[in-house]
Amino acid sequence: MSAPVLEVEGLEHGYDGETVLDGVSFAVDAGEIVCLLGPSGCGKTTTLRLVAGLERPAAGQVVIAGEAVTGPGRAVPPEQRRVSMMFQDYALFPHLRVRDNVAFGLSGLARGEQRRRADELLDKVGMAAYAGAYPHVLSGGQQQRVALARALAPEPNLVLLDEPFSGLDPELRGRVRDDSMHLLKTSGAATLFVTHNAEEAMMMADRVVVMREGRVVQNGAPEEIYCEPASPFVATFLGEVNRFDGLVAGGRVETPLGSVAAPGFSDGSAVQVLVRPEAIRIGEPASAGAEARIEAVRMVGRSTLVHLTLAAAPRGVYGPADPGGIHLHVRSPGRIHAGEGEVRQLSLDGEQVFVFPRE
Ligand SMILES: Nc1ncnc2c1ncn2[C@@H]1O[C@H](COP(=O)(O)OP(=O)(O)O)[C@@H](O)[C@H]1O
Ligand SMILES: [Mg+2]
Repeated sequence: MSAPVLEVEGLEHGYDGETVLDGVSFAVDAGEIVCLLGPSGCGKTTTLRLVAGLERPAAGQVVIAGEAVTGPGRAVPPEQRRVSMMFQDYALFPHLRVRDNVAFGLSGLARGEQRRRADELLDKVGMAAYAGAYPHVLSGGQQQRVALARALAPEPNLVLLDEPFSGLDPELRGRVRDDSMHLLKTSGAATLFVTHNAEEAMMMADRVVVMREGRVVQNGAPEEIYCEPASPFVATFLGEVNRFDGLVAGGRVETPLGSVAAPGFSDGSAVQVLVRPEAIRIGEPASAGAEARIEAVRMVGRSTLVHLTLAAAPRGVYGPADPGGIHLHVRSPGRIHAGEGEVRQLSLDGEQVFVFPRE
């Protein structure tokens, strides 16, 4: 087994006496894309800056390719870490042509070799035709490609990307993200990238490190954090959920959609049941299951979002008292033939149902 390219151990950092990172640990293997995912302000950029060496941690250590680059009495400068960092705004040099931007980090190579390497990378990102152009004539997506070529040109051990797609419009973002993912995978570098967008993290990453308020709250493959969230925070951050409150009896909890297993909870525990919209099935009229009235049906791209109200909602039992009943969201692949005002039966697919202690 190869050692990780990046090991972050117990990183602590703060600004003006405010704790920003509180014991952050994770690792990135060669060829692996790891995403730091979390809400704005949770410490993602700070973590990247400490890894890159732009700042020194108050405590903890950063190990790159087996060498401790920070730690007691030690600080390897950024340029010696074989780390490339790509910022949100791409930070291309406006006075340099595209080729010279890409060749910028290659000062150790002979001139001809620098050019050859820069052109090779520009070809890989589909920007060979722009080698002689200046950055200002490029679109946002083209600048992103050049910035990525520049980051990969010196064959770094580790590539750091901070919200690399947030400046792109949604249409373009999908394609640039996809191309970048394949390019990073084939480059063999270890990649650590930051986003607050859960869908982006799941599309790009081999592994996702979820952060909250300066701490790592879960670290796993995208399907693991989506299907087995460690906390209500992770479940909710990764995707929408319907929530019911209940009390455990005999290892199960009653919800308006039926009884759900609550392993590990003792009788009488107050729990919350989180149900993904895709875990609820809309049955044929008069089938078995909880009755609900369809309020609205909206096809959203590849799936249909159905808004329902549970008809027989005993007030205050399953959730916050709502005089209008319990409002639910159900998401089904493709098209759903159901009309507004219709009453349908709902059933649960237990896979996407999570039980947590009530907070
Ligand atoms: N240079 C700084 N001086 C003071 N506070 C900072 C500085 N940089 C970041 N912070 C604060 O640290 C926290 C984490 O910031 P950051 O790492 O940028 O979060 P994220 O990238 O997850 O949005 C925020 O509360 C932010 O306001
Ligand atoms: Mg940030």
